[in-house]
Amino acid sequence: MKNVVVVGSQWGDEGKGKIVDWLSSEADVVIRFQGGHNAGHTLVIDGITYKLRLLPSGIVRKNKISIIGNGVVVDPWALLEEIEEIKSKGVDVTQKNLIISEAANLILPFHREMDEIREDAAGKAKIGTTRRGIGPAYEDKVGRRSIRLMDLVSEKNLDHRLDTVLTHHNAIRKGLGKEIYKKDKLKKELLKIAPEILKYSKPVWKKVDQFKSEGKKILFEGAQGILLDVDHGTYPFVTSSNTVASSAATGSGCGPNTINYVLGITKAYTTRVGEGPFPTEQNNSIGELLGSIGKEFGTVTSRKRRCGWFDGVLVRQTIKISGINGVALTKLDVLDELEEIKMCIKYEIDGKQIDYLPAAVDEQLKVKPIYKTFKGWKCSTKGIKNFEKLPEKAKLYILELEKFIGAKVSSISTSPERNDTILLENPFKI
Ligand code: GDP
Ligand code: IMO
Ligand code: MG
Repeated sequence: MKNVVVVGSQWGDEGKGKIVDWLSSEADVVIRFQGGHNAGHTLVIDGITYKLRLLPSGIVRKNKISIIGNGVVVDPWALLEEIEEIKSKGVDVTQKNLIISEAANLILPFHREMDEIREDAAGKAKIGTTRRGIGPAYEDKVGRRSIRLMDLVSEKNLDHRLDTVLTHHNAIRKGLGKEIYKKDKLKKELLKIAPEILKYSKPVWKKVDQFKSEGKKILFEGAQGILLDVDHGTYPFVTSSNTVASSAATGSGCGPNTINYVLGITKAYTTRVGEGPFPTEQNNSIGELLGSIGKEFGTVTSRKRRCGWFDGVLVRQTIKISGINGVALTKLDVLDELEEIKMCIKYEIDGKQIDYLPAAVDEQLKVKPIYKTFKGWKCSTKGIKNFEKLPEKAKLYILELEKFIGAKVSSISTSPERNDTILLENPFKI
């Protein structure tokens, strides 16, 4: 039996949704274990596009169980809206195929407001968050004042929990000259939607244990990317959760020995949304070209994604940090028209060459990439499903990339469509 964790190996938007959907044909259960509706995972199936934020990408397939684990922060209104949206596209969402951890922490409207207040006040120092309240919600979780899904069961308990969390928020709001957040209206609104969401609520750790003993295959779906991890990313320009593969265990309530294979989704170039260091960024016509061919606009916020060359140093680093066994290389087709393609293989800082990204943000901003240049293949790879059919120059780029990062390229994606994917090694069968 094999259980696979999918994580992004860069700054998010690597194409995790497409690969999870494609791989979920082999899985029985798909679990989201961290992040919230800051994620935007796109699936394209027979020309129909699905954009998922909180729902696991297995939801569109029949007879699969989708789970939102305890490590996810859930905006209940956003989730209900997403469920309605996907139902309107003909996808079934019932208590049979969706389970939400009773221990998941809620994102409430004052979290979203706090995210906005801070970002607006930060001026040039802003992080460029998705403004969904992710950071403030995780802060309340570790501050032990959060409201969890299970707290919606009893009005008395909810009242008490709201008092606790609002005492904290209102002290800050007062200090910032903002209006006090009132409890009663929010409590009423939460109690109104409680039955709609509580019907999916279960002890996820127990279900995962049951599925494991039944021999079901589990696919864990990470959100964001390792470079946005709160410990290992480009701090402070990161998200507020651990995005590394080991988070799958804590975020769903199973041991690390449940994980058999870690698949790192890796874009054939690099993108980033929001602020922060980006050594191989191309603030020029190359960046514009990658952005327009790759349609690099945020799934959640529609912001233009910053684009640049593939950074081998960074991906080699995230492979080590997250224990990635193999990578799915995505968006190869976006490079089709380029005369030449560059790959960062080292950095230079203060006249010295280094082979990793230092942890301090001021040093991260200073490093200069050293590139290896490849000739472009200048023909279409769109929709190719067989490695042998790729142009020789594309094969060379992939093989050199594989050698440099030190992990096997186990699949290659050549268009947004589910089946336009080359399979080299099946993670469920290793
Ligand atoms: P995620 O957050 O990692 O799931 O990625 P997003 O869905 O935010 O962004 C990836 C974008 O690239 C989506 O619009 C996908 O439909 C698209 N995509 C995924 N794989 C490929 C590919 O191989 N080629 C092209 N051209 N687009 C792809
Ligand atoms: P998926 O799962 C790309 C970025 C934001 C910002 C930083 C912090 O689709 O790959 P947050 O709202 O989390 O506090 O923002 O993280 N970010 C993402 N960038 N893809 C994502 O998710 C992201 N989720 C958050 O742009 O820079
Ligand atoms: Mg995305």
